[in-house]
Amino acid sequence: MNQVLVVEDEAVIRSALKRLLERHKYQVSEAGSVKESLEKYDLDKFDVVISDLRLPGAPGTDIIKATKAPVLIMTSYSSIRSAIDSMKMGAVDYIAKPFEHNEIIETLSKIIRERATLDKKEKPDSEEPQQPIHGMIGSCPQMMELFRRIRKVAQTNSTVLINGESGTGKELVARAIHNLSDRKDQEMISVNCAAIPENLIESELFGHEKDAFTGATATRTGLVEAANRSTLFLDEIGELPLEAQARLLRLLQENEIRKVGSVQSKKVDVRLVVATHRDLKQLVADGYFREDLYYRINVMALLIPPLRERGNDILEVADAILQKTCLRLKTSMLNFNDSASHAIAKYAWPGNVRELENAIERAVVLAEKNNIGEELLAIDLESTKIAESPAPIPNEPAEELSLEDYFQRFVLEHQDVMNETQLAKKLGISRKCLWERRQRFGIPRKSNKKQIA
Ligand SMILES: Nc1ncnc2c1ncn2[C@@H]1O[C@H](COP(=O)(O)OP(=O)(O)OP(=O)(O)O)[C@@H](O)[C@H]1O
Ligand SMILES: [Mg+2]
Repeated sequence: MNQVLVVEDEAVIRSALKRLLERHKYQVSEAGSVKESLEKYDLDKFDVVISDLRLPGAPGTDIIKATKAPVLIMTSYSSIRSAIDSMKMGAVDYIAKPFEHNEIIETLSKIIRERATLDKKEKPDSEEPQQPIHGMIGSCPQMMELFRRIRKVAQTNSTVLINGESGTGKELVARAIHNLSDRKDQEMISVNCAAIPENLIESELFGHEKDAFTGATATRTGLVEAANRSTLFLDEIGELPLEAQARLLRLLQENEIRKVGSVQSKKVDVRLVVATHRDLKQLVADGYFREDLYYRINVMALLIPPLRERGNDILEVADAILQKTCLRLKTSMLNFNDSASHAIAKYAWPGNVRELENAIERAVVLAEKNNIGEELLAIDLESTKIAESPAPIPNEPAEELSLEDYFQRFVLEHQDVMNETQLAKKLGISRKCLWERRQRFGIPRKSNKKQIA
């Protein structure tokens, strides 16, 4: 029988909750404050602690650090802000008072289920040597840790947030999570939020009813529903407009979707994996991303390190890509000479693995001997000149340059010779995203310039 501790100072609520939980076969202990719960119980023995946020003496969030058990925080509707703060402090979830009976029962059983799968995975994991993930090369400690976490989260239904610079392998990680999960027999649905026009994205994702808007000539099923019983991968989640964010929040909270123009909702079973190269926290601070949604998707965060921080992995990845490229282009098997290897290891690769792939493909096409020299890679270690891919600005190591700085400089330096499509392509972002960033950084497109694209 699962053991639950209820920490609540109002005796009426506390005993009502106790009765409800007991009816659902939980063994319930009670406390009226954080202090009392610390004095009376060994907190680690509980499967879940449910605590009110506002308690006499100390807030319920103080329990989080005192126990290994997941802590569910109860709070009033008027203080959703503090609910969000509680999640920042490590609460597994929050529930707003007053709540429906089934709401708390469902939340509770979800927490227990997820904890159980995690625990089951934890033990064999720590004993076995780390297995690489199919298709992903790397053996540096950060990548080994990433592989370990991928295997672990793949077994759960938790939402995963994948963070990483452009070209680091976010899509590859999403696919690995899906392929290692028990949803692998269904197809993963992959959506790039930056690629769909803003006015269409809600109906693309959630579907629409006939006549919901001009042009909606028939009822349409959305991509979320298509991902039922499978995984939905939302790439570039930072580009999702606010209205669509509200619908997504509903999906995460209630497992329900509602088509645009419909009054009826439908239950779905979708595992969400999202990715972004942007700093979502900053987007929240700037008002572009809903804070409540941020905490709902930031349940399991996976950070993919940039290539330049992976030590010797760079050469390992480069060799593997070289082999693959030679096979694909049906050339003889080529090697890098020493100067090429040196340049590859030294360069900062702002476009990460994708940029490396492009550089290698170009070199393979141009190669006339069995050896690939530095010159064929067109890596410019010294200059700001853009060869085929954006290079770091001289005298300022790329590590110290934030992506935002990099973006601004790149645009300012190249907008006179490149059109918007070319700029966006070089930066590895959509034109829409380029436009948005121009607005954000106050570098509007020059209107007197003729644009070809
Ligand atoms: N660790 C790795 N080993 C081998 N290949 C990799 C690795 N990581 C990424 N790649 C390859 O690099 C390319 C870019 O990966 P992917 O598309 O997953 O990156 P991304 O982060 O989604 O990029 P973007 O931000 O441009 O969307 C792909 O061809 C992928 O197969
Ligand atoms: Mg991608």
